[in-house]
Amino acid sequence: MRTTWTFSSAGELIFGPGAVRQVGEVARALRGAGTKVFVVSDRTLFQAGIYEPVRVSLGDAALTWQVFEGGQPEPSLKLADECAAMAAKFKPDVVLGLGGGSNMDVAKMTAVLLSHGGKAVDYIGDGKVPGPILPVICVPTTAGTGSEVSRAAAFTDTDNQVKTGLLSPHLRPRWAIVDPQLTLSCPPKVTADSGIDALTHAIEAYTAVDNAEFPLPPGEKSCYQGKNPLGDVNAERAIKLIGMHLRRAVKNGDDVEAREGMALGATLAGLAFSNVGVALVHALEYPVGGAVPVSHGAGNGLLLPFVMRFNLPKRCREFARIAEWLGEDAVPEKAIEAVEKLKRDIGIPERLRDIGIKREQLRTLAEKTFAIKRITRVNPRTATVQELERILQEAW
Ligand SMILES: NC(=O)c1ccc[n+]([C@@H]2O[C@H](COP(=O)([O-])OP(=O)(O)OC[C@H]3O[C@@H](n4cnc5c(N)ncnc54)[C@H](O)[C@@H]3O)[C@@H](O)[C@H]2O)c1
Ligand SMILES: [Zn+2]
Repeated sequence: MRTTWTFSSAGELIFGPGAVRQVGEVARALRGAGTKVFVVSDRTLFQAGIYEPVRVSLGDAALTWQVFEGGQPEPSLKLADECAAMAAKFKPDVVLGLGGGSNMDVAKMTAVLLSHGGKAVDYIGDGKVPGPILPVICVPTTAGTGSEVSRAAAFTDTDNQVKTGLLSPHLRPRWAIVDPQLTLSCPPKVTADSGIDALTHAIEAYTAVDNAEFPLPPGEKSCYQGKNPLGDVNAERAIKLIGMHLRRAVKNGDDVEAREGMALGATLAGLAFSNVGVALVHALEYPVGGAVPVSHGAGNGLLLPFVMRFNLPKRCREFARIAEWLGEDAVPEKAIEAVEKLKRDIGIPERLRDIGIKREQLRTLAEKTFAIKRITRVNPRTATVQELERILQEAW
């Protein structure tokens, strides 16, 4: 049984409009003059003009850098290997992840591979990174994953058709530079999907199994540690901010106040889940996201109310509070209704069949979910394979 909890974050966090202009100084401070920075990014961000302030800031700090432009949504393990191979030739001192969760996670894995060798697949699981890695700076351009403060990185395992990931304290970025202005160019779908992912992080952390009851078998270690007071503080504020701002940011991408609220909400949700854990929504989304081309956020948003309904008997008090924070009466069921309404308003798919899942796949998806112990154990209510299949049937 766990009776103590700890709280950690990125080494340093800068938040605010224009923060990206400090990226050069930050990289230089890490390794001094002549620092070589390897930037992980993608072409969509170049077209959106997001690389420009980074280029100027790195130039002003008189640094040398190289850019990987091949980032892709929901990156495969193979993509991370390719990125690391390019970085290995450049021999950087610092790795910079510029983008949504996808590029930030490839940057983290690149730093792992440059520091410890091998292939991306070798590090999948909890606690497999053997020691410190090259310093990573994360600059998020979506308001979503919280990867800029988390000790996680997620990839698509194309061989086994499942989303998978690694957890390690060494994956925490040394610096997180969160500039809400970088999210202004996010199209409505990216805003909606990444925004509801952040809401899922906050709700799963706030309703997780208690720290004192965290079911960790003897001899096993985990980066996750269950519900605790500082996780709650961050999750509460995140849920309120996302409830207030997500619809606005989707409807009008230029709404600066909504973008700022979402950027803060997503980072706070990242602080909550990366210490407490994510739970059954994420465990179900991993095989769903491996089976059909759906973004992590849309998959989570689709599944969220169905998992909330399953968890309700164990978390009535928490759900009543979430309902209030989302602007409803303090009645547990109202939290689920509020999430269903938000889902509809921002265009998250309603059902698994809408995203191409076939009914006959549900049993296999349930079995794959059941095997993802590192996150299923964070859920407040344990689920058998049959119960997981029932949740999927309801969501189908
Ligand atoms: N490491 C973690 O802690 C963690 C947590 C949750 C999710 N994830 C992972 O993160 C990934 C999802 O990340 P995401 O939701 O941030 O989306 P993403 O990084 O996959 O980006 C989606 C698309 O939006 C584009 N985009 C991003 N920012 C933009 C901007 N400002 N303007 C225009 N286009 C922009 C990207 O180029 C990309 O094409 C998944 O692989 C998921 O599993 C990681
Ligand atoms: Zn997530």
